[in-house]
Amino acid sequence: MKDTIRQLIQQALANLTTAGVLPEGLSPAIQVENTKDKTHGDFASNIAMMLAKPAGMKPRDLAEQLIAALPADAAISKVEIAGPGFLNFYQDNQALAQRLEVALADAALNVRKVGPTQRVVVDLSAPNLAKEMHVGHLRSTIIGDGVARVLEFLGDEVIRQNHVGDWGTQFGMLLAYMQENPAAADSELSDLENFYRAAKKRFDESPEFAERARELVVQLQAGDAECLRLWTRFNDISLSHCQALYDRLGVKLSMADVKGESAYNDDLANVVADLKAKGLLSESDGAQCVFMDEFKNAEGNPLPLIVQKAGGGYLYATTDLAATRYRANVLKADRALYFVDQRQALHFQMVFSAARLAGFVPASMQLEHMGFGTMNGADGRPFKTRDGGTVKLVDLINEAEERAYSLVKSKNPELDEAELRQIANAVGVSAVKYADLSKHRASDYSFNFELMLSFEGNTAPYLLYAYTRVASVFRKLGKDFSEVDGQIRLEAPQEIDLATKLAQFGEVLNNVADKGTPHILCAYLYDLAGLFSSFYEHCPILSADDQATQQSRLRLAALSGRTLKQGLELLGLHTLERM
Ligand code: ARG
Repeated sequence: MKDTIRQLIQQALANLTTAGVLPEGLSPAIQVENTKDKTHGDFASNIAMMLAKPAGMKPRDLAEQLIAALPADAAISKVEIAGPGFLNFYQDNQALAQRLEVALADAALNVRKVGPTQRVVVDLSAPNLAKEMHVGHLRSTIIGDGVARVLEFLGDEVIRQNHVGDWGTQFGMLLAYMQENPAAADSELSDLENFYRAAKKRFDESPEFAERARELVVQLQAGDAECLRLWTRFNDISLSHCQALYDRLGVKLSMADVKGESAYNDDLANVVADLKAKGLLSESDGAQCVFMDEFKNAEGNPLPLIVQKAGGGYLYATTDLAATRYRANVLKADRALYFVDQRQALHFQMVFSAARLAGFVPASMQLEHMGFGTMNGADGRPFKTRDGGTVKLVDLINEAEERAYSLVKSKNPELDEAELRQIANAVGVSAVKYADLSKHRASDYSFNFELMLSFEGNTAPYLLYAYTRVASVFRKLGKDFSEVDGQIRLEAPQEIDLATKLAQFGEVLNNVADKGTPHILCAYLYDLAGLFSSFYEHCPILSADDQATQQSRLRLAALSGRTLKQGLELLGLHTLERM
């Protein structure tokens, strides 16, 4: 709708320009918003206020001229001037009902991408394989997965890239420990955290061990077969831990999406040589650096992007530069989104700028760091175990499932054990994911089991439950969502409000895709569930007065159910038929 209204305004502006009312050469960004208060119509634009000055007119006079010049459109029933010169648009309810009919008839709910579809790299999850996944990896994994799903739904071609940390000095330590304890390696590797700790202990207490670890890194980099064998075995085990978690979390990632840091090894020397050939490198304390005008420290001194250490070693930034080039040239991406902790913001700004300067990516390719804040405990400090350690992701999920189990059991003591478990696991995992997804990614948030498992408020249990209410209407009738004849008619205010919300689904998804912010979709689904609930209370469905009314309401309910289900699925949440 907003697009339609923008086009109508565009046309009105052109008409007024031709008529000489407006000067030539105005091309304002036309803003159209949903109104909060429906007594002021459904959409509003401030265009008359924006253009009053350049037009040399009073805003209300210009608004009047604009209304006169607006082409008629079946979707708009009337347009009024409000306040200092707002244009308020009232939608036509019949046209709205018609749009919902189109959505009902379409598997994709009449959602389309605004603008051309693209090939998009989504860089997500990316744990360091030396250790077990901990809560810090949750946000990247879940938010990245949600956005990737939305992009795909809109028709983009998504290429997931799990840029795991599978290279670097830590691996020398781990390989040395594997060599030293060939038998222990098998059993202990099942708990990577302990294995890492034991290796680190040896590293810290024995200079000989530390020396061997350093030699092993050099050998590994030189391609020594035995080192590579150990390294590969270690990574396989570590990756299988990750995969088990992705599966439990219902995240669309597989081994095929792994493209770790090590994959770029062979290209790192080329990256440095190419930067040098372009005249972008300077030496600083023996290290090779790129200095760029826009990056200065607090004292105003230039900040280096270091791509090669004095000893010859390459860095995280070198690998990321190689990755930008691979994503541009080999993957042919139009856009690359990096779901990585906000604290790496400067790193990405510098890498992106250097990649552009060096011509590693075409000017048309979008590179966007989708940073996120820290997950804190209830005390507002970074989330830790009681004794101050990092919380393993697997422990967190186990606890969520256990808590959900008690909760669901107390609500439905009659459920059999298998179904109880299945529901509890879905609710537990969904609660954790949704709590994360529903906050703006850029802000820090407090992790709180009680809040996320509550059946009230913007939570997974509330939404999953809302969906089961829609599903139960259809179960009682023995029908599914697609089996309702008739036509949507919008009469009661609750029907109109629900319909208006339903018609915004496409716009919401386009917003999520554009900004990489799934919380917009969460807020939408929460509103939708609330509107469905008032509709359900005020507009009887099964006991409706006549068949046409019942069919209309059932069709609205079916579209609500499908939109909720689709929306939750795009967030990576599985709906339940009952709970
Ligand atoms: N492994 C890194 C970390 O744990 C994240 C990598 C993110 N992706 C990237 N292309 N740098 O901090």
